[in-house]
Amino acid sequence: MKVIHTVKHLKEAISLIKKQNKSVGFVPTMGALHEGHISLAERAKAENEVMAVSIFVNPMQFNNADDLKKYPVTTESDLAMLETAGCDFVFLPTADEIYTANEAPLSFDLGNLDKIMEGKFRPGHFQGVITVVNKFFSWIKPQKAYFGEKDFQQLAIIRMMSKKLHPDIQIIGCPTLRESNGLAMSSRNRRLAESERNDAGIIYSSLIQLNSLKNNHDIADAKSLVIQRIEEVHPFKVEYMDIVNADTLDSLSDWSESTQMRACIAVWCNEVRLIDNIAV
Ligand code: PAF
Repeated sequence: MKVIHTVKHLKEAISLIKKQNKSVGFVPTMGALHEGHISLAERAKAENEVMAVSIFVNPMQFNNADDLKKYPVTTESDLAMLETAGCDFVFLPTADEIYTANEAPLSFDLGNLDKIMEGKFRPGHFQGVITVVNKFFSWIKPQKAYFGEKDFQQLAIIRMMSKKLHPDIQIIGCPTLRESNGLAMSSRNRRLAESERNDAGIIYSSLIQLNSLKNNHDIADAKSLVIQRIEEVHPFKVEYMDIVNADTLDSLSDWSESTQMRACIAVWCNEVRLIDNIAV
């Protein structure tokens, strides 16, 4: 496995791969890898001749300086996990390699997609995400790129950006992996105390109740019941919960408005913000 730190070396490696006519499957990450990332990497490996992964904690997508400072960095174990998964190359740049001083985010109209849910509570976050993903796509030119469905809104936004700017890249959404109590795997879970991590199973177990609640409650009541059930467990606080059309992410007020629905939620556990979503 080759570890590449500069854009110059990345472009050289890609040009060699392209000369050999090999297909590239790309998994962008911010490191602190867990089984969820590895499942994306394994899929990229199975479906392409070359598996490429980036590890870059992208400062531009953090709207909260403290969150950036506390984001876990576990580079040594990340590289060991990727080596075991059969990764061909890892792009591990510094921020100076990616951005010029005071670089502005990519100007790309995301319509309503970055104004709702995560976008509403994390202003500028998605512009930061598409800025870095657009750069990676331009340099790596993969045939396929893999993203977890845990970040459901991010996936929709990347599909939108990519359709316009990188129409040849196939965006593959992969199912969320969960811990045994149902908690969605996330790099941020490392910041939870053991008891909080155990209790955080309440998020998923409450969300899946929607599948029965929808038979005898309207959307507003069902949402309130889910939020109430989560907030009964100290110290969890729901920041938002919405039930949306899975394609447009438009908020729904009646179950009959869509056949493909997604329930999306963000929950604070003290200083740690957890997100999750399920198909309803
Ligand atoms: O989902 C993530 O880890 C990040 O948002 C991504 C896609 C790697 C961009 O920095």
